[in-house]
This record gives sequence, C-alpha cells and structure tokens, in this order.
Amino acid sequence: MTAARAVALFDRVASVYDEVLPFFTGFGQQHMEWLAPVRGTRVLDLGAGRGALTAAALARGCQVTAVDCAPGMIERISTQHPRVHEARVMDAHQLDFPDGSFDLVCAGFVVHLLDDPAAAAQQIRRVLTPGGVFSFSVPGGVEDAREWEFYGALFCEFQPLIPVGEGRLSRPLDGEQFLATAGFTSVSESAIEQRLPVRDADTFWNWGLSHGSRAFIDALPADARTEFEARVRAELSTMDPIVFAAGAHLWRGTSPA
Ligand SMILES: C[S@@+](CC[C@H](N)C(=O)[O-])C[C@H]1O[C@@H](n2cnc3c(N)ncnc32)[C@H](O)[C@@H]1O
Repeated sequence: MTAARAVALFDRVASVYDEVLPFFTGFGQQHMEWLAPVRGTRVLDLGAGRGALTAAALARGCQVTAVDCAPGMIERISTQHPRVHEARVMDAHQLDFPDGSFDLVCAGFVVHLLDDPAAAAQQIRRVLTPGGVFSFSVPGGVEDAREWEFYGALFCEFQPLIPVGEGRLSRPLDGEQFLATAGFTSVSESAIEQRLPVRDADTFWNWGLSHGSRAFIDALPADARTEFEARVRAELSTMDPIVFAAGAHLWRGTSPA
C-alpha cells in the first residue's frame, strides 16, 4: 500500500474511526498494559489513528508524541488528547525526529499496512534511544470463536471480484523475523483478544465501514457489495446476542545498546 492510499482511506474514515465499536481502544489499552511503561517514558505512537495507544500511554503519565500519515486523524488527536506532547502528520518511512528521541515506539495495527516495513524499522531504530523498545500489534485470530469464521470466509469468497491490487490494505508479516532482521533483540510476543457486544446488525455493518476493511467493501462492484452486505447481515441474524470476538498479536523488541 502506498502512503497515498493510506492517507485517502484513513482520512475518509477518520470522523467515525473507533467510534462505532471501541475495537482499537480496547486493544490499545491491553497493548499498553503489556508494555507497562513508567511515568515520564518518551513514547512515539506511530500511525496513531484516533489515539488508542496515545490515550493509554497518557493515562500512565508518559510523554506522548503521535504521528500519522492521515491529516484527519492528527487533527482529531490534537483536540481529543490535549495532553499529547506533539501530534504531527508524518510518514512512518521518513521520521522527522533526531536520533534517540524516544524510549518506546509503539504502532497499533500499522506495520502490516506499510509499503516497506523494513525501511520503517530502520527509522524506528534510529529515533529510539539505545535500549529502547519497539512494539507493534497485528490482527490475530480467536481460537474458540467459530461463529465468526464466516466473516473471514466471506472476504476470501468475494476477493476475486476485486481488481488486482485494490481492496486489501494489509500484507502478511512474520513479527519475529521482521524484528530480528531489523536488529531488535529480546523479541517477545503475546496474544490478546476481546469480545465486544454489538447492539445490532446495523452497528456491525457500520463498524466495517469505519476502519481499514472499508477499502475492501468500497472496492467491490455494486452488485457484489449488495450481496456481501446481505450475507453478513444474514449471518448476524442467527446470533443473539451478537458478541464480536477478535484477536491480536503483540510484538516487542529492544534496540541494541
Ligand atoms: C488500522 S489504523 C490503526 C490506528 C491506531 N494505531 C489504532 O490502534 O487505532 C492504521 C493507521 O496507520 C496510519 N498509517 C498507515 N500508513 C502509514 C504511514 N506510511 N505512515 C504513517 N501512518 C500510517 C493510518 O493513517 C491509520 O491511522
């Protein structure tokens, strides 16, 4: 994905991002609990979105700088998190900070969207202080949530209807290999999950339009989009209550001293 496509998509959804369901907020809180930075830690929230990690780090008394390539996200971070040290529009591949500026760089659901994760990792190492930590999250599964397998299966089924190169924002990423290749040490991983109550099918559908998966829905031809939505709603109509189970993997590595 080029940064231009990320800017276009995430600017389009910025006004509703994480407002339909507190999906990223929940994962951001769990991620920051896992990292447990001490008060005063200089944190860079990379690809900050509406500030799921920023808010969790501020709550722990960290000094937080937030960057994102989408101006709509950064505008909202600045107003919604007034205690943020600095919020700037910036591409993760070209970090405009002096060497050794941060003790912790965190990136929630961003790295797998980047054009060149390895180049971004070198920038991250540069802006981290020696011994500093880089941590990121990527989407993961939930083992005992078979009722949600239909959702992934529908994406696979409709994928061939989308022009090549469109619709998918993410690429597979081997977190361990990525961190090790970039020179990070003491690599570790954790799997987390959350179960979010969803009021009704409208809420779930609107949630799908409020974040990255919108790229997929928008890239479907009109008749396929109508069918995709109908199939999602049909599955949801069999669930009572609707409780959305989602998982994520957290990774962290240390910049060599
Ligand atoms: C899935 S959202 C996650 C946002 C936030 N970290 C969270 O956990 O809610 C991905 C974010 O990464 C940003 N992003 C994507 N590519 C980027 C890049 N090259 N440089 C900076 N930000 C980028 C998007 O604009 C978007 O806000």
